[in-house]
Amino acid sequence: MTDDLRKAPGTAFLLQTRLDRDTIRSRTRPYYDPAEPFKSYPQAPKTALPRTSWQLSEARIMKLLQRRRSIRRFAAEKISLEDLAFLLWAGQGVTAQAGSHLLRTAPSAGALYPIETYVSVQRVASLAAGLYHFNVRTFELELLTKGCQGTRLAEAFLGQSFVDHAAVCLLWSAVIGRSVGKYGDRGMRYLLLDAAHICQNALLAAEALGLGGCPVAAFYDQEINQILAIDGIEETAIYGAAIGKKR
Ligand SMILES: Cc1cc2nc3c(=O)[nH]c(=O)nc-3n(C[C@H](O)[C@H](O)[C@H](O)COP(=O)(O)O)c2cc1C
Repeated sequence: MTDDLRKAPGTAFLLQTRLDRDTIRSRTRPYYDPAEPFKSYPQAPKTALPRTSWQLSEARIMKLLQRRRSIRRFAAEKISLEDLAFLLWAGQGVTAQAGSHLLRTAPSAGALYPIETYVSVQRVASLAAGLYHFNVRTFELELLTKGCQGTRLAEAFLGQSFVDHAAVCLLWSAVIGRSVGKYGDRGMRYLLLDAAHICQNALLAAEALGLGGCPVAAFYDQEINQILAIDGIEETAIYGAAIGKKR
């Protein structure tokens, strides 16, 4: 490998976060303090998410895997609150408890769950447009910003206008200390992998509901961080998915 290649930030990251037998016991100590395992916004108006009406008997996993495609053309029609609830549950819903860990639909390195889910609600029946935080513990939405954020969001996603046309855009951030506070730099790899599991679950759930979705990772980081009101250091935007009725 040439020296230039070694020094490129992406390669350097992979090299510096490798585990190998000679160094596994002498790794650098984590420089992030372990972070709180859950986020909540106590002052925010809450919307309870419904757990009913998930009629998914036709949703065989083989069919869903075969049919899933990235969809970027959305109908103007609204999705239901039940559909949104199912998407959120599929991504990060609590399915069991082990000690203090709330185990979820998606796996997480060390059961640390560094990923937080936010939703830009743009076209959902009986739910006002706005930016919400998904509280996994209470299965509620917490309203952070009133009013549709679609246009602003699409601009932050490098002008990808389908983000605005979607019914919702799920936004995933990482609370870095949750993972790096335990695993050091290697935790940076794990939190990216965690986000990918969550996104795929949500996309397959969309397919099961007859909706379409597209993952989106091309964005101006600081603009998305500003929309989410997070600092980009302790918590930073990682990934998103635009989901809605197919056109
Ligand atoms: C990590 C990741 C980031 C992506 N970011 C974008 C994006 O910003 N915009 C977009 O239109 N598609 C994005 N995609 C979707 C890919 O273009 C798409 O998955 C690929 O073309 C394969 O098509 P398929 O998903 O229909 O199988 C992304 C996919 C992944 C996995």
